[in-house]
Amino acid sequence: MEFNQGHVPIMKQEILSFIKESSIPASFLLDATFGRGGHSKYYLDYFKDLKVLACDRDIEAVEYGQVYLKSFIEQKRLYFIHKNFKDIDTQDFSIFSKKECSHILVDLGVSSPQIDKDDRGFSFYKNGPLDMRMDRGQKLTAADIINTWSEKELINIFQQNGEVYSPYRVVRAILEDRKSQLFTDTLSLAGLIERVDSWRKKSFHPATKYFMGLRIEVNSELSVLKESLESFVDYLKPGGRLIVLSFHSLEDRIVKHLFKSLKHKGNVLTKKIVKASDDEKKINPRSRSAKLRVFEKAL
Ligand SMILES: C[S@@+](CC[C@H](N)C(=O)[O-])C[C@H]1O[C@@H](n2cnc3c(N)ncnc32)[C@H](O)[C@@H]1O
Repeated sequence: MEFNQGHVPIMKQEILSFIKESSIPASFLLDATFGRGGHSKYYLDYFKDLKVLACDRDIEAVEYGQVYLKSFIEQKRLYFIHKNFKDIDTQDFSIFSKKECSHILVDLGVSSPQIDKDDRGFSFYKNGPLDMRMDRGQKLTAADIINTWSEKELINIFQQNGEVYSPYRVVRAILEDRKSQLFTDTLSLAGLIERVDSWRKKSFHPATKYFMGLRIEVNSELSVLKESLESFVDYLKPGGRLIVLSFHSLEDRIVKHLFKSLKHKGNVLTKKIVKASDDEKKINPRSRSAKLRVFEKAL
């Protein structure tokens, strides 16, 4: 299979510092969002005794890792599971006993290869099927939502997930257009949004927030995050650290509140949120919106 390799791991140095400064050694990392394994590979190279359990709900990510990080698999330091991280609990950890993670990394959102591959349907710049599923075994696609959900439901998605203040005209236009022809590809939806909500900022496509809201809905990203964070803390050893990278304010708010509510189980180490350095932001624009929060389980 042909793989698109490019995903630049974000804040890998800052995360490394949080791992190195832990009071327990880096023995077992659960990489809940493997992607292209940029973080996992970096820490496997750095910590010679580290083992990684890598999880991704996208089978392409898992297959990529099995090919390109094969040497670590042969050394019995890297193991894969193809799952939504909310279902990790259903996994039989034959290699590691549960609650033995020294570190857990959750790097939310989509990977660059997912966005760049037009057939995944995440991009409003490239034409592809209106899909947006991270796990292509899932039934619900973006097209199903756009073509069948009610006006109220669409408004909710764009307002709540996409933080679009006033999506009414776009939603009305979707409802009108789909009477004559269903939406099947990304550019017809992006084109409609561009037509109705014209460009306000040169570098900000009017479809950006709509596509984000839709993607979050297709993959139930916010509810999955809410459901999973607390169990991640349960998988940590005492002194272990849960490290979460988020990319928009809704995700970050969930992480912030959940960490606060878990104070009886440990400490939030990032009283002040950690952001990418100016140098990293220059090299990797995706890092501009990244926010890093870390929670340490009590000893
Ligand atoms: C930002 S990328 C991770 C990039 C990775 N850290 C790297 O350096 O290559 C996010 C990945 O997490 C996966 N993902 C997102 N939500 C997930 C979930 N609930 N369960 C499992 N994987 C998920 C996506 O499929 C995607 O491959």
